[in-house]
Amino acid sequence: MSKNLWGGRFKKAIDQDFFNFQKSIHYDHKLVEYDLYHSIIHVSALREAKILNASEAKRLTSALNDIAREVMTNTFKPNPNAEDIHTDIHNRVTKKLGDLAQKLHTLRSRNDQVVFDEKWYCYKEGIYILGELNILLTALNHLGTRYKHIYLPGYTHTQRAQVVSFFNYTGAFFAMFERDFERIDMFVKRSSIYIGSGALAGSAIPKAAYSEAIKKFLAKIKYESKHGRSETVKNSLDNVASRDFVIEFLSILSMLQMHLSRMAEDFILYSTREFSFFDLPEEYCTGSSLLPHKKNPDFLELVRGNTGRIYGNLMSVLTTMKGLPLTYNRDMQLDKEPLFSSTETIKEELKISAGLINGLILNEDKIHKALEDEDLYATELVEFLVLKGVAFKNAHTLVGRLIRFTQDNDLKIKEMSDSDLKKFHKQLTAKDVKRIMNPEYAVASKKSIPTLKKATSKKPRKLK
Ligand code: ARG
Repeated sequence: MSKNLWGGRFKKAIDQDFFNFQKSIHYDHKLVEYDLYHSIIHVSALREAKILNASEAKRLTSALNDIAREVMTNTFKPNPNAEDIHTDIHNRVTKKLGDLAQKLHTLRSRNDQVVFDEKWYCYKEGIYILGELNILLTALNHLGTRYKHIYLPGYTHTQRAQVVSFFNYTGAFFAMFERDFERIDMFVKRSSIYIGSGALAGSAIPKAAYSEAIKKFLAKIKYESKHGRSETVKNSLDNVASRDFVIEFLSILSMLQMHLSRMAEDFILYSTREFSFFDLPEEYCTGSSLLPHKKNPDFLELVRGNTGRIYGNLMSVLTTMKGLPLTYNRDMQLDKEPLFSSTETIKEELKISAGLINGLILNEDKIHKALEDEDLYATELVEFLVLKGVAFKNAHTLVGRLIRFTQDNDLKIKEMSDSDLKKFHKQLTAKDVKRIMNPEYAVASKKSIPTLKKATSKKPRKLK
């Protein structure tokens, strides 16, 4: 067993099963980099406050930097027997410096460290996800542009409704992911770094010492200050007691996941033999151990399936936090696995989704065939009559009757003669019907949405 950061008041050793039950090193080692930041800033604040002399501060900082170097070169191996990452780092410094390490934790609490670490994690991962989202937005933009000559049946209630341009279709997902981008961007920009709450009540180290230490550290690592503010603690109780930033991040990720899942569902549906609009790239499908012909959309299904876990992660932290008395409680240790799980899953999904979108092939023949369905143009016929002065309700009813008539008699409206059409309305001619009932007309007649030219000039937003 490794040495703990506590123990003086205990007569008995901790029960081994309980020790294993309560430790968090197996997941909170992911915070190692940020926990080292906290320690380096803390040492600097202790120096500012003259609690450490210059040589002590220098030796402690250098030991912490050595560990940071291991992290950066991927040679850091967490000690599985340590209680948590804070303890592990402390023990390593002790190994390097002996007694001096006992000054590292002066007037500091893990409660302050853990919230600092997690804030920094959300900030860093948020920025990473923005980059991945930008790649996905670019892929969607390319796909829409590659097939901008294509029209597609649009659906409501999973029933054919009206024709839309394919660019408008991909643009719908673009719009959703762009909003996700903006939400994360806002979240990251609002993130700030607090330090100095102690266990809950603050510490004897002056505010100015913390501020100075944070300022120096941020300058040293060239921290992009426009993405976050550094502050000393606003309210020390709130700082150690609150995890709304975790919940907010998980909630933004849940919405992003919902969009990924809806896109996955559309792609699954459109790649079925029944639809056959899309041909999924093989690299993102798997086969069946029994059915030799199968090409299954497993990636998309797993994206859809992951939604349960990602919503669950949000609900898990919300529920853990509900009813906790102020301030820190050990329950809060359990926010990390949900946070890491959602973050890591979303990162993978975004990356692979962009690859799949880049390789997506449209089955143009099948789509053309589907566009022959005259139902898709019923609304355009109504609109045509409305523009000729027919009241909308009347036009709606008579086109409904016309559709019904053709269905009952196994006819095509486009093949009906002028005289037959006139039985439904005197303004309906075979020439007009042919002109109206085609995808180009249907899409071009929509004046309330951006034109294709305007829409195609839309570029994914840049990371500012
Ligand atoms: N492992 C703990 C967590 O993740 C760190 C804080 C422990 N604080 C304490 N007073 N036991 O929340």
